[in-house]
Amino acid sequence: MHVLHVAARPDTLPCREGEYAQIMRAVDELLEEGSGGCVFVSGVPGTGKTATVHAVVRELKRMAEEDEGNPFTYVEINGLRIPEPSAAYGLLWEAVSGHNVAKDGHLKISAKEALKQLTKYFGSSERAGPGGHACVVLMDELDQLLTTKQDVVYNFFNWPTLVGSKLVVIAVANTMDLPDRVMTGRVRSRLGMTRINFGSYSREQLYEIVRSRLEAAKAGMPKNAQVAIEPDAITFVAMRISNITGDARRVLDILRRTVETVYPLKRTAKMADVRLVAQEMQNSPTAGYLRELSFHERVMLAAIMLCVRKEGVEEVPWGKVKRQHHILNNLFSESPRIVMPTPSELLMVLDSLSASRAVLCEEGVESAR
Ligand SMILES: Nc1ncnc2c1ncn2[C@@H]1O[C@H](COP(=O)(O)OP(=O)(O)OP(=O)(O)O)[C@@H](O)[C@H]1O
Ligand SMILES: [Mg+2]
Repeated sequence: MHVLHVAARPDTLPCREGEYAQIMRAVDELLEEGSGGCVFVSGVPGTGKTATVHAVVRELKRMAEEDEGNPFTYVEINGLRIPEPSAAYGLLWEAVSGHNVAKDGHLKISAKEALKQLTKYFGSSERAGPGGHACVVLMDELDQLLTTKQDVVYNFFNWPTLVGSKLVVIAVANTMDLPDRVMTGRVRSRLGMTRINFGSYSREQLYEIVRSRLEAAKAGMPKNAQVAIEPDAITFVAMRISNITGDARRVLDILRRTVETVYPLKRTAKMADVRLVAQEMQNSPTAGYLRELSFHERVMLAAIMLCVRKEGVEEVPWGKVKRQHHILNNLFSESPRIVMPTPSELLMVLDSLSASRAVLCEEGVESAR
């Protein structure tokens, strides 16, 4: 159960050796040269983007500690975990100015002020990070940082390209064409960014990911220890998920839940067990409800969930939901282009969600606040 958990950090990531090497080479070269640059990683959810970048950074940190590579400051900015896109400026400023967050807490500085400092910093000739170090920043869930003006993402793509910059941006997004939508042709050609796309996993790859995690759990166990899951059962889930999304997270979730249900019975999980769990997850009333929703109802529910995750509370203001709906709508509707609903149409979508009690709405001055 432990090794199948999505939060577990396996020592190696099978099937991503190529992508790992590509990212490693690109970032390592920049650090070696002491120059700035941008590595753009794209791919659908659950294809190992975050896990791979984390593994690269861990290795680079280890190399720096053992004097095999150049030292660097590292900061992670996750679009899902900051209240609004401009909050990214404060985090980057802390990193490049050498502020010790662990010791002194976050800087009390507005996004506007941070942007001013960063502009000044990257505009001058004195741009190296603390002690002349480079600064590596992981911009995860970049799609979340798109704004109408697209200024945040623009700046993060642009600063690494300025002469003398030692800023290395590893940008991770779900959509492959995000840089093209943010940068104009002229700027884009100057960027020279390395682009790496993570394809969705095949059945064989999903099987291998599970197998290698279970193999790792075997280390230190007696030889005759009971097998957790039958290989057939793993193949079954791998095939099913590779046909839909190729999301490793779902494979791990289904199998972990299966082991959880079978564990008290002290036997090996079989195909039938996995099938039951997968069916339960798919045929739950919630899943059924979601399947029946319209496009915009789904988008709005997703928008509300993202807001809840970002804010960390289950009550979110309508204004933020609308903004998030806008971002997601743009993300999902490349072709054919789906028009953004008007404010009153959005209210109708909300009404229909609240009619089914999927969400509860509060009106009035109190809630507006
Ligand atoms: N090749 C792999 N080997 C082992 N585990 C993997 C592999 N790829 C993905 N995983 C696991 O699957 C889960 C999802 O991976 P990860 O978070 O890296 O996906 P992601 O591409 O960043 O998705 P998202 O776009 O939703 O952020 C994690 O628990 C990760 O450890
Ligand atoms: Mg991720």
